[in-house]
Amino acid sequence: ACSSQQTTSTDWQTVGTVAELDKTGQLLNENSPIGPVLVVGTSNTGNLTAVNPTCSHKGCTVAWQAQTEKFVCPCHGAEYGVDGKVQKDPATQPLKTYAAKIEGSSVVVKQ
Ligand code: FES
Repeated sequence: ACSSQQTTSTDWQTVGTVAELDKTGQLLNENSPIGPVLVVGTSNTGNLTAVNPTCSHKGCTVAWQAQTEKFVCPCHGAEYGVDGKVQKDPATQPLKTYAAKIEGSSVVVKQ
């Protein structure tokens, strides 16, 4: 049951390639099968983080800031931790987070 890449029963969805992720340490796919997804990490870090990068304030797309390890919204300055939780106003609701992992040469996420 685990051998098939594209069955309708699997929850894991491909959002990009490992090569894309490793290039910058992040991978943004605004039209993935589960909507906008921002994956943070590289194939060398054991732990990938994935969020829906849609700011809970007014819907701008947040950017990952590696230095401070925060998601920062360019519109009104809201900040979120790597866990999606709000760290700075004006956002009040967390970012939605997803499970993420590498499967072969693909980055896959699950709601
Ligand atoms: Fe993100 Fe306002 S839309 S802070």
